[in-house]
Amino acid sequence: MTDPLTLFDEWFADARAAEINDPEAMALATADAAGQPSVRMVLLKGHGPDGFVFYTNEQSAKGEQLAANPRAALLFHWKSLRRQVRIEGPVERVSDADADAYFASRARDSQLGAWASDQSRPLDSRDIFEQRFEQVQVRFEGQEVPRPRHWGGYRVLPNRIEFWSDRPYRLHERKLFTRSNDGWTEGLLYP
Ligand SMILES: Cc1cc2nc3c(=O)[nH]c(=O)nc-3n(C[C@H](O)[C@H](O)[C@H](O)COP(=O)(O)O)c2cc1C
Repeated sequence: MTDPLTLFDEWFADARAAEINDPEAMALATADAAGQPSVRMVLLKGHGPDGFVFYTNEQSAKGEQLAANPRAALLFHWKSLRRQVRIEGPVERVSDADADAYFASRARDSQLGAWASDQSRPLDSRDIFEQRFEQVQVRFEGQEVPRPRHWGGYRVLPNRIEFWSDRPYRLHERKLFTRSNDGWTEGLLYP
């Protein structure tokens, strides 16, 4: 039986070779405590048997939704390959050490942006954001920019991964992997 993580690696490598930009872009769906879904794009910053990792502001709308309901769905659509991958499962925060390491690898202006942006909160004018950015530039001048406490990563622990590929006449192929205590089970779905 194929391991879905191995198959994901193969498809991800194909996407890196084929997509003109952002093969690592994925839609992240979360829902609040009332069940209202919300979806937005984020970037995949790590993956493996442990899960699929992205980074964000934990006080953002998605951060609040994940605090109330720590489950998510991810969707990759690699248009030029005519493929999609759907991933679902519970979510946990990545360790502070991992978040520190990834934050330290980012461009300085991205690090400063993480301090300046009150992600998902109303902003009265673009000028105010630019002023906040200048203030953090001054605040951290001549020093390394530390990771803000509210900025971190989440890991989606997959218990369902579906690989969809386009076939002529809408006879698409859907391969579904579901995880139980015994490991992964593979099956097909009608398109
Ligand atoms: C291609 C693409 C990649 C993005 N990657 C991220 C990301 O990795 N982390 C992030 O916080 N926002 C990312 N964004 C912005 C989010 O889509 C979103 O606007 C922001 O995180 C606020 O979402 P929220 O209000 O639902 O929390 C990305 C947007 C696009 C279009």
